[in-house]
Amino acid sequence: MERLLIKKILKEEIVDQTVLIKGWIRSIRKSKKFSFVVLNDGTSQGSLQIVVDAELENYEEVSTLLIGSSVAITGLLVPSGGKGQKVEMQAKSVEIIGKTDESYPLQKKATSLEFLRENAHLRMRTNAFGAIFRVRHELAMATHKFFSDKGFYYLNSPIISAVDGEGAGEMFRVSTLDSKNPALNDKGEVDFTQDYFGKEVSLCVTGQLEGECFASGMGAIYTFGPTFRAENSNTPRHLSEFWMIEPEVAFADLDDIADLASEYVQYLIAHALEHCKDELDFLVTRHGADIDATHLDMLAHVRDTKFVKITYTEAIEILSNSKQKFEFPTVWGKELQTEHERFLSEKHFKAPVIVTDYPADCKAFYMKQNEDGKTVRAMDVLVPGVGEIIGGSQREEDYDKLIAKMDADGMEKEGYWWYTDLRKYGSVPHAGFGLGFERAIMYITGMSNIRDVIPFPRNPKSCDF
Ligand code: 4AD
Ligand code: MG
Repeated sequence: MERLLIKKILKEEIVDQTVLIKGWIRSIRKSKKFSFVVLNDGTSQGSLQIVVDAELENYEEVSTLLIGSSVAITGLLVPSGGKGQKVEMQAKSVEIIGKTDESYPLQKKATSLEFLRENAHLRMRTNAFGAIFRVRHELAMATHKFFSDKGFYYLNSPIISAVDGEGAGEMFRVSTLDSKNPALNDKGEVDFTQDYFGKEVSLCVTGQLEGECFASGMGAIYTFGPTFRAENSNTPRHLSEFWMIEPEVAFADLDDIADLASEYVQYLIAHALEHCKDELDFLVTRHGADIDATHLDMLAHVRDTKFVKITYTEAIEILSNSKQKFEFPTVWGKELQTEHERFLSEKHFKAPVIVTDYPADCKAFYMKQNEDGKTVRAMDVLVPGVGEIIGGSQREEDYDKLIAKMDADGMEKEGYWWYTDLRKYGSVPHAGFGLGFERAIMYITGMSNIRDVIPFPRNPKSCDF
């Protein structure tokens, strides 16, 4: 018999059919004449209730199965009188596939997110994490559809890189040198010419620089891949390995990509509200959720409202004039901290806000320099609850200005020859941004720790699973 997915059974409310289902037991309750099994197969927020009659041949064994066991059940689907379910199953046969024992960590009592983080290999079997990772899947698919429908090409930028694309010195080195006894040069330094690639290389922090090459020939591209940052930030918003979506567009300026950014975020929200209703409903109402009850109304509002756009200078004015006490100073020229970003989006505008034209010193070397000689054509998109979810800019397309900036920042330009070459051969105004995929998932699901929206988080001093 062909297996049916529980998602299909619940969605189409299939009854009067004998079908085969397979999944993991979420709960099991034994009574004299029957046992009630709740089965989930990962395909939907809802589970299916199965009534197992004591007459069944292997009833003794089935009725003593523990939570987490895997089974294949053949049975008749019938209308259900139970609360919150339209269909249930009367089992005709139960095949036991894999048993558990009492040590199975996911027992019926409520388990904390923290506890589940320590059991990340099993947490996708809970309602909350099933929901989060189905939303994650939907947002990934929506991303490809959004950009592909607009004519952007999907680009796989390299993961091993010989340059620091952000110039921030936060890279993980990739090496096959003997770590106990590395080859040394005359000066006693590690001799990377003897390393695998004949030079020092690292995991990429961004795919942007390669993205710029492709946009400068194919018009518009987007990357969607893993990026790695060896920054020592142990916060609920930082990961050492995270996924980023980076569109890059030729013949475009900052306003063009600010519009693209808001359209993309609104598209993601619309997609989630339409395709992940059960999941989002579950997440905002789940036991112990610290999510605002109005979360879904807020998302619907953001989907339909144009994003506010202010300059960095205006942001500093708003912050300095507010009554809020900040830990970090709000003076022109200093980085905006998370507390500032959250104040602007959460308290002041109560909506996503795009901040543009930051001081050059706060931003990366590749950004287009403004006429004022102080600011660059940068933008960050800030959202309530999370802070920055997007960072982007128009790129410096003038060869001399770019070189001067790299020199001023003390960068070793050698490895970037191909990147600066773009400015020599048919250079055009171009712009792009990076959306932190996990930050976007946090924002849309309302989850408050980034480690709960990536399958297996990597953080300083922590790399399990
Ligand atoms: O602002 P960032 O560093 O910008 C770039 O990487 C540019 N190359 C993007 C571009 O213009 N093509 O990073 C972009 C986004 C941030 O807004 C944030 O959402 C996310 O990536 N991000 C992180 N997410 C999780 N953990 C970290 N450590 C992150 N660092 C950045
Ligand atoms: Mg940034």
